[in-house]
Amino acid sequence: MKLSLSKPSKDFGPQSTLVVFVPSQGDSTKSKKPTPLAVSDLNSELTQLLRDAVGEKSFLGGEKETCFFRSCNVGGVKNLLAIGLGDKAKITPETLRVAGAVAFQTLNGGKVTKAHFHLASALYGQKDAALAAQALGEGLWLSDYKLEELKSGDKEKPKETPKFSEAIFVPGAKANSAALAKAVAAAEILGAVVNTCRRFGDLPANFMTPEILADETVKFAKGTKVKVTVWDKARIKKERMGGLLGVSQGSGHDPRFIILEYNGGGKSKKPIVFVGKGLTFDSGGISIKPSLQMDDMRYDMCGGANVIGTVIAIAQLGLKLNVVGLVPATENMPGPVATKPGDVLTFRNGKTVEVLNTDAEGRLILADALAYATELKPAAIIDAATLTGAIVMALGNTHTGVFTRNKKLSQQILDAAETSGELVWLMPIHDFHVSDMKGAFADLSNISSFKGAGSATAAAFLEQFVGSDIPWAHFDVAGTAWSIGSRFPYCPKQGASGIMIRTFVELAKDL
Ligand code: BES
Ligand code: ZN
Ligand code: ZN
Repeated sequence: MKLSLSKPSKDFGPQSTLVVFVPSQGDSTKSKKPTPLAVSDLNSELTQLLRDAVGEKSFLGGEKETCFFRSCNVGGVKNLLAIGLGDKAKITPETLRVAGAVAFQTLNGGKVTKAHFHLASALYGQKDAALAAQALGEGLWLSDYKLEELKSGDKEKPKETPKFSEAIFVPGAKANSAALAKAVAAAEILGAVVNTCRRFGDLPANFMTPEILADETVKFAKGTKVKVTVWDKARIKKERMGGLLGVSQGSGHDPRFIILEYNGGGKSKKPIVFVGKGLTFDSGGISIKPSLQMDDMRYDMCGGANVIGTVIAIAQLGLKLNVVGLVPATENMPGPVATKPGDVLTFRNGKTVEVLNTDAEGRLILADALAYATELKPAAIIDAATLTGAIVMALGNTHTGVFTRNKKLSQQILDAAETSGELVWLMPIHDFHVSDMKGAFADLSNISSFKGAGSATAAAFLEQFVGSDIPWAHFDVAGTAWSIGSRFPYCPKQGASGIMIRTFVELAKDL
């Protein structure tokens, strides 16, 4: 997908496709007066075409409604696509993100390869035009993702179906072009990064081992100012990461510990550390999972992938921040020397844990990474993990569960998610949950001694590895990182969603 910003113009060329945005015309069509279309800067012939459609009630501007005037050859354009935005008073950047997805799908389905987007109509009434334009661009970019590389087919032969691949944003005469250009660039960066991370998530475990994840991270960071360091098994052992080692023991593939560093801020600025669960396949280990849909456990590295994406996006955006990404990567398999229920592991910070269920492995690999993150004396630690099935029960696939005891950080997270359009929900974490995780034969147990609140007790376990003076939040993305259905038209129904990268980038700006 190519996304660009042109100069203000009303001349698009006789072969062009123009996309305009129209708020809901609702009941106003009943009145005798001509319908007030909020399509400013549009020539009168095109405005009349839309007005006629509204008059005939074939298009009323409802959210996600479309009217495609194909080969209409009116007002100097070949095709006109009108996209509804719904109630004028309720149009947010998220409405435009959705509208971008609807535009992509309609144009792609209509075999249109290039279109001009009438920004004045899209941004009409928006408080922050740049943010709204960025959202529209993200909607387009995020819709342009599908994992096709594993299907055979003639790679030499050009695809018969043309794909929508070029969007040109045309600003209104009074627009702030510099701010819009920045917004377009940000949409491109975030869209491309999220799509790359979705690919990491979607690749099955034989195409995404810990070693491959590390290699792909190195490739991904090429050309950016991100330094990637990869620790192999010997180094992980030397670094006393007993949790990561213990989980990896049952697999024939060695673990990796991936470190990303970006220093865009001053030397004295404390880093923000993002930690992500990089479980490239979770069979459950000796506490093996049922076979039904076990293939879904390829997605158990989405937290890690999205942390990798966050650091790379921050670098590409050139934010003046110091950021570190830590991704412990391993498989969880029941091989001959696998960790067994009851085994006790010793972690980097010296704490001991009895592994009563080998399927509660995410917390074991994160524990070492959080202990390491603490040593970096960061401004904040943020982790993302497909950690518990319990969060799927609690919040389904709409909201990501957020756990933190830090009030200021809670508010910063809510604000960042509001800006990015991703949904989060604050969840409890309490001393009760900590005491539920005490061990009988070791400091801690990796499962709770009580039924229920499985996501909160998992979060309480993680907390034991974070320095008490460091603002920390845990994001349980088990319900939102993959297969979120048709909730968001710019996310694949099946497969990795790339969730939280956009929120993390926003959050980092505020930390
Ligand atoms: N990777 C799973 C969590 C998960 C479940 C992610 C469903 C996505 C969808 C995690 O490692 C796990 O197996 N957790 C166990 C913990 C339990 C044994 C305490 C769970 O949630 O069942
Ligand atoms: Zn598990
Ligand atoms: Zn897992």
